[in-house]
Amino acid sequence: MKGSVLEQFDILHVHSMWQSVFSLCVYVVIVRTQFPRECVTPEVLRSGTCCPSPTGLANDDCGVRSRRGQCMPVVADLRPHGPQYPHDGRDDRERWPLRFFNRSCQCNKKFSGFNCGRCRYGLTGANCDQRIHVVRRNIMQMSPEEKRALVNALDQAKRTVHPDLVICTRRYQELFGPDGNTVQCENITIYNFFVWTHYYSVGKTYMGSGQHSFGGVDFSHEGPGFLTWHRFHLLQLESDIQDMLRNRTFALPYWNFATGKNECDICTDDLLGARSSFDMNSISSNSVFSQWRVICEDVEEYETQGTICNSTEGGPIRRNPGGNTARLMVQKLPENQDVIDCLEINTFDTPPYYSTSSLSFRNTIEGYSTSKGNYDPGVRSLHNLAHLFLNGTGGQTHVSPNDPIFVLLHCFTDAIFDEWLQRHHPSTVFYPKEKAPIGHNWRYNMVPFWPPVTNAEMFVSASDSLGYTYEVQWPN
Ligand SMILES: *[C@@H]1O[C@H](CO)[C@@H](O)[C@H](O)[C@H]1NC(C)=O
Ligand SMILES: *[C@@H]1O[C@H](CO)[C@@H](O)[C@H](O)[C@H]1NC(C)=O
Ligand SMILES: *[C@@H]1O[C@H](CO)[C@@H](O)[C@H](O)[C@H]1NC(C)=O
Ligand SMILES: *[C@@H]1O[C@H](CO)[C@@H](O)[C@H](O)[C@H]1NC(C)=O
Ligand SMILES: *[C@@H]1O[C@H](CO)[C@@H](O)[C@H](O)[C@H]1NC(C)=O
Repeated sequence: MKGSVLEQFDILHVHSMWQSVFSLCVYVVIVRTQFPRECVTPEVLRSGTCCPSPTGLANDDCGVRSRRGQCMPVVADLRPHGPQYPHDGRDDRERWPLRFFNRSCQCNKKFSGFNCGRCRYGLTGANCDQRIHVVRRNIMQMSPEEKRALVNALDQAKRTVHPDLVICTRRYQELFGPDGNTVQCENITIYNFFVWTHYYSVGKTYMGSGQHSFGGVDFSHEGPGFLTWHRFHLLQLESDIQDMLRNRTFALPYWNFATGKNECDICTDDLLGARSSFDMNSISSNSVFSQWRVICEDVEEYETQGTICNSTEGGPIRRNPGGNTARLMVQKLPENQDVIDCLEINTFDTPPYYSTSSLSFRNTIEGYSTSKGNYDPGVRSLHNLAHLFLNGTGGQTHVSPNDPIFVLLHCFTDAIFDEWLQRHHPSTVFYPKEKAPIGHNWRYNMVPFWPPVTNAEMFVSASDSLGYTYEVQWPN
């Protein structure tokens, strides 16, 4: 497997000249990232400025000469966060991304990406002036060829090194390595990058050697940013796969998990993998996903040593749908009626904007309350229930995206969010501008995306502003 990745690289290298011409004229190469490879040299990091030139152009920071964008100071949210996190100053993710960079590309209307080399969502063409539409569909309604293409695309993403982005595997304090001049960042594949960003957003705060890490922090769950964060997370994977396939209309499908059943209908070998007949907790060897290996398993090590997950793969995906015999509540998937009920809730979020909020649409779809919105510490519903039902890799927050069911489960969650936005035309007053849990304020840059993108930017209708729609029939 390692060999085939290297081969692809060599081919890309040989064709790189042709490629940059191609990138500029036909297909504007992508751009979203932890950090762009060209920004993680000691010099660039010390300068605090990450403003690369679009691929194929030299000395044209952010494409300023072709009016694509300009290099600007990063704006970070300085409003207070909620009381859950009392350790200001200890965590690199605070005021993201200022610990690492304070200048980034800001792209003009039609452009996007870390170097403004890409078109905004919903646009394509050399000048980014052609509209395109991406349609996310129910995976069960795809043809056999479409199913095959999807499985192949995911598997290719698992094996293809990300063209632009790298991950950093040490906290800032140790980022420059033992000699102070060897930046601790590395390549990672497109799919593993998707897993890593999620892990990085939920990791505990390291409090020092011999101290307990602080777990009351989560930049992507248990707060109003849950829906906006996961929306961007999916968009990033979808665009990375579009670029990999050179197909701008490639769409992630969704899994309607609200079947009320005690089995997993997408767990078949033509889709996400059947159950192995030899081991209840494993995926059938007829599915390519039985060969996938997970990253970010070694939480114990990260928490006691203050290291960060890297691209090293470990064991296989574990999954036993409906098999948690110790916990009756998570043996059965959510009901259709739960979706109907949660869509009726009027208010986006309610104080304390946390996993304890009542009558909050966000906390309900996230799954910490009954589907009618009543907070109940014993309940797990909707999104949370669908995860826990999987009883394995997909049910543990820090590693859950390693199971590709994550992608489809979150697409459905995002579809419900989008439907809710269309039905309620919500006033943004119900999205807190301050005192939400850290990471969740309206103008907070979502951790760890690069270039900076706020929760506010994802609180929009997907078809109006993000270039995609869901093909879905909602029950009444
Ligand atoms: C930006 O970061 C660089 C490098 O850390 C630092 O020297 C500079 O003072 C910062 N600028 C501002 C405006 O914070
Ligand atoms: C990372 O990937 C880039 C681009 O494909 C390649 O040029 C570079 O050699 C890789 N670095 C390592 C350490 O493998
Ligand atoms: C691009 O992706 C779309 C949606 O997945 C698919 O229908 C279409 O056939 C693909 N086009 C090519 C050229 O593969
Ligand atoms: C990568 O992670 C593994 C598992 O946590 C660890 O053993 C290894 O030392 C790490 N590698 C680097 C370069 O940090
Ligand atoms: C799976 O279910 C078993 C018991 O049925 C339970 O002990 C285990 O913690 C569950 N694992 C996960 C990851 O949910």
